[in-house]
Amino acid sequence: MSPHPMPHLGGSTTLRLESVELKAIAEQFGTPTYVYSRAALTDAYRGYEHALNGRRATLCYAVKANSNLGILDAFARLGAGFDIVSGGELQRVIAAGGDPRKVVFSGVGKTAAEMQLALASDIRCFNVESAEELERLAQVARHSGRTARIAFRVNPDVDPKTHPYISTGLKSNKFGVAFDAARNLYRRAASLPGIEVCGIASHIGSQLLDPAPAGEAAARVLTLVEQLTRDGIRLQHIDIGGGMGIRYNDEAPPSADDYLAPVLAVLAGREEEILLEPGRSLIGNAGLLLTRIEYLKPGEEKHFAIVDAAMNDLARPALYDAYHAVTPVTPRNEPAQTYDVVGPICESGDFLARGRSLAVHAGDLLAILSAGAYGMTMASNYNTRPRAAEVMIDGTQCHLIRARERVEDLYAAESRLP
Ligand code: LLP
Repeated sequence: MSPHPMPHLGGSTTLRLESVELKAIAEQFGTPTYVYSRAALTDAYRGYEHALNGRRATLCYAVKANSNLGILDAFARLGAGFDIVSGGELQRVIAAGGDPRKVVFSGVGKTAAEMQLALASDIRCFNVESAEELERLAQVARHSGRTARIAFRVNPDVDPKTHPYISTGLKSNKFGVAFDAARNLYRRAASLPGIEVCGIASHIGSQLLDPAPAGEAAARVLTLVEQLTRDGIRLQHIDIGGGMGIRYNDEAPPSADDYLAPVLAVLAGREEEILLEPGRSLIGNAGLLLTRIEYLKPGEEKHFAIVDAAMNDLARPALYDAYHAVTPVTPRNEPAQTYDVVGPICESGDFLARGRSLAVHAGDLLAILSAGAYGMTMASNYNTRPRAAEVMIDGTQCHLIRARERVEDLYAAESRLP
C-alpha cells in the first residue's frame, strides 16, 4: 500500500502535487489553502468511464462534494452531468458552463422557487422524494407552462454498512419514498398533467467500501422497474446514486470497476440508461488542505501542533471523527513526537487529527490529505475566520480558483442599528 492515499502527490525532499511544490503554493497564496489536482479528478472520472465499459450512462457529479466553479468546469469539460440538491447548486453549475439538461435534482425539501428555476433551466430530472413534493412540482410545472421530468428516489432498505450519519437507504432515514409506496406514486405521477415520468433513483449512503450493497439496491430497484413495466410505465433511466468510498487511512476501497461490477451484472441487458451520482470518489483524493504550524504546545498528557486551519475549514474530523492523513510538506530527519493537530478555534472539538507521529517545528507546513470532498463545501466562518483560498494544479500550472475571503466580506451584508 502506498504511504498515502492521494494520486499525483509525491516528491522525496518536499511534497508536490503533480509538478508543483506545495511550499511554492503556500508562498504564493498563503495558508490555509485547499489545493486540488486536475489530473487526479480526471483519472477518477476516467475510472468510472472505464468501468461503464461503453454502457449508455451519464455520470452526474454530486456538486455538494465540492462546488467550486473551477471544479465544476473541469467536470463539465469531461462531459459530466451534475447531481444538485439546491437552486444554488444549479446556479453554480450554469455559472461554471455545465449543461442543465444533464442535471438531476435530489433532496427532500425542494422549494417552489427552486422548482421554478430548475424547470426554466430545463433540467433533466427531478428526483422526487415524497407524495407532497410530487403534487407541488406538478402544480409549479403547470403554472409555468412546463413539464417536469421526474424519477422517484426509492428507499431500497439496504444497509450500506457505513457511518450512521451518512447512510441514507434505510427505512429509518428521511430520504426517498418507501419501496412499497413507490408503485402507487408512479401511477399517480403518470396521471398528472405537468409531470413526465422518466426514471427511478436510489442512493443508499456514502463512503461505501463494500460493493455488495449497491448491487443489492440495484436488484431491489429492478424488481420495481419490472412491476412498473407491467403497469405500463416505461422508464428511460435507472439512477444508482453515489457513494463509492475512498481511502483515507488504511481502507481498501474498491476500484470503480469492482464497485460497479455487481450493479452492471444486475442491469445487464437492460435498455435503460444508467445514471450515477458520485461525489467523494471523484474529488476526495484529488484535494488536500495546506496549513502552517503556528505553535507547538507541549502539554502534560499530550502535545499539540496548533495550525492555521481549523474545524471551520475542515469540519469532518470534528463532525464525524473522520480520519485525514497528515503529512509534513518538507519532512525532517529528526525524531518524531505524537501530536494532536488542532486549530485556533475556541472549542475542544476543533481538531484536524489526533495522536499523529510527526517530526515538525513551528512554521512548518502540513498537508491534510484526502480533503477534496466535503471539505470546502462544509466550511464556515465560525470565529469570523475568512474561508480558505482554493488552487487547482494542472501539470506545471496553478490556478487560483477561489480567492481567500476577506474579513470585510464576512460582514458586508450586516449593518449596525439605525
Ligand atoms: N447522491 C445523493 C442523493 C446524495 O445524498 C449524496 C451524498 C451523493 C449522491 C454523493 O455521495 P458520495 O458519492 O459523495 O458518497 N458530508 C459527509 C458526506 C455526506 C454525503 C451526503 N450525500 C462526509 O463528509 O462524509
